[in-house]
Amino acid sequence: MNLAKLGGDIIFFGEDAVGALSTELASTKKRAFIVMTGNILDELGLLKPVTDALEKGGFTWEKFTDIEEDATFTSIKKGIEAMKKFEPDWIIGFGGGSAMDAAKTMWIFYENPEVSELAEVAAPKTFAKLREKAKLCCIPTSAGTGSEVTRLAVVKDVDKLQKFVIVCRKGRMIPDVAILDPQFSLTMPKGLTSSTGIDAITHAIESYTSTTTNPYSEGPAMAGLKLAFEYLPTAYENGKDPVAREKMLIAANLAGMAFANSLLGIVHSIAHSFGGEFGVPHGLANAITLPYIIEFHKSDEKVSERYRQLANLLGSNSLLESVKTLNDKVDIPKGMKDFIRKRLKADNDEAFEKHCGTIVEKAKKDIATLGAPVKPTDEQWEELVKLAYYGK
Ligand SMILES: [Fe+2]
Repeated sequence: MNLAKLGGDIIFFGEDAVGALSTELASTKKRAFIVMTGNILDELGLLKPVTDALEKGGFTWEKFTDIEEDATFTSIKKGIEAMKKFEPDWIIGFGGGSAMDAAKTMWIFYENPEVSELAEVAAPKTFAKLREKAKLCCIPTSAGTGSEVTRLAVVKDVDKLQKFVIVCRKGRMIPDVAILDPQFSLTMPKGLTSSTGIDAITHAIESYTSTTTNPYSEGPAMAGLKLAFEYLPTAYENGKDPVAREKMLIAANLAGMAFANSLLGIVHSIAHSFGGEFGVPHGLANAITLPYIIEFHKSDEKVSERYRQLANLLGSNSLLESVKTLNDKVDIPKGMKDFIRKRLKADNDEAFEKHCGTIVEKAKKDIATLGAPVKPTDEQWEELVKLAYYGK
């Protein structure tokens, strides 16, 4: 049996889509719990349109801002306690993938108080008990993860230095409402615009070539890829352009639908592994790794044909060249080396060399590897991980 689900109940998009919060959330208790990564959105004045709309709709709200850029279960647990005390009937994930994934995870534990550990929910499951206490609305501020329409959440376990994926097989974790309002991404920094944008492009490409690709994932993958290639350079160069921002939000949303209805591949496996081990941001790790994996896969005839189809869609002769050109245009580095060295305050590559084997092992076991159309050999895994670190 196959199953496709392209989103929750409804997606509001475009100028002032946030107004939907005052009129479109069916609610008896009128209590909204907003999950965010820090106070930056509040400081930028971006929380106010959200709370204004909620108040106009008669909501009492509370915010929880203790989520890191890379959501950890440690901070999520604090949020679950705050949520239990506040007793919301709407949970609002407001921010990038981390805020939305944290909101999804808190929601699961809020609805299922009998579970308390990440390991109990981290594997494909069917969460029967959801929406008994609250519904979920997600408002993305970056255009990358598409988490507002996906059926999964990625959470970091700091003790195990590993990222866990929580998935509901039947798509019950897909937020009920998604709001794509360009006003929230106008101030996104350039580096985040480029890395999250290429993350969306990676979702489109990996889902299109994955082992489970199907017409329901191909449609949004193609539409999302085309939009992202067209509008990412403008969104990067001129962040205040509301049209480019809106189109990028839609592109990421479509690419999210695509991979939610198929699988990803080893770009994501390697990115998850580097993220868990060295804290490389998800989008950046994907953007750096993507060209190396396209190059690796293109020797396979079937995958190569799929790449040709996507290149045609972009009016190009080579998907690899198109991706490389776009990466250069939006200043994506060739390897993760500089980022990791800077983060570790190291002047050599000792830490990477020491952990290279672990990165490979974690990538092999990553859930995204299931979608890879061609599985690398042990030697190739190591080669690819080294390329992602050192670049070429
Ligand atoms: Fe991603």
